[in-house]
Amino acid sequence: MRYEPASVYNAPARLFHWLTALLLLLQYVLAWTMPDVHRDTKPIGLIAWHLGVGMVIILLVLVRLLWRSAHAAPPEPATLPPALRALARYTHGLLYVLLIAIPLMGWANASSRGWPVTLFGFIPMPPLSPAGSSVGHALGDWHRNVAWVLIALAGVHIAGALFHQFVLRDGTLDRMLPAHRKQAASKQ
Ligand code: HEM
Ligand code: HEM
Repeated sequence: MRYEPASVYNAPARLFHWLTALLLLLQYVLAWTMPDVHRDTKPIGLIAWHLGVGMVIILLVLVRLLWRSAHAAPPEPATLPPALRALARYTHGLLYVLLIAIPLMGWANASSRGWPVTLFGFIPMPPLSPAGSSVGHALGDWHRNVAWVLIALAGVHIAGALFHQFVLRDGTLDRMLPAHRKQAASKQ
């Protein structure tokens, strides 16, 4: 199979993609191992880590979207059926929406608990809702539930990548992988 250089995501886009995936994985591990959050819980230990990593995810996704707005995705293979093309685009769009919405809801919930939220542990961020706010409180439930929707959607996304790799065999996965793999593949 031949790979055109233009049909590969650029290096920063690939770095942003895999860094987001890695931090998300860490974030779910933290979410599920941190103590249950109650009215008198203090934001320390693993909970502080969950807040901190979540804020880094927001920043990363914002920088990634800025980069993406200036650098179009490489053209899809001409053989891609229009329905699959649309499915991929809507899935990617929705993934970005959730990657912003979920941490914002967590942030609003933390603020409603009166917890200080910082970037990198030392840059204070403004509260997204007043302490004691019932909306901020309700957003905690939304945060938890929509995090499951993200898992489901990421599952669809990963299944799509595997379908391209092993059924369609159209080189889609290589668009997100380091360059040396593509060079090796193009020699075949
Ligand atoms: C993409 C990023 C994030 C993901 C995937 C995520 C995921 C989760 C998940 C799965 C839970 C539920 C844990 C459980 O079932 O016990 C949770 C809880 C929580 N998260 Fe996040 N989180 C993210 C970002 C953030 C951010 C940025 C903050 C705050 C700055 C935050 C604050 C919280 C709080 C306060 C809870 C407890 C909510 C409650 O039980 O009412 N999260 N998070
Ligand atoms: C094993 C895990 C994963 C694999 C194999 C994978 C694979 C890929 C591939 C091959 C593409 C390029 C698609 C194309 O050319 O149209 C892509 C794009 C994308 N992936 Fe993943 N991915 C994984 C995990 C994730 C996760 C966890 C997220 C976020 C929740 C994510 C979000 C995205 C987004 C938003 C794009 C679109 C990039 C853009 O055009 O701006 N991926 N992924």
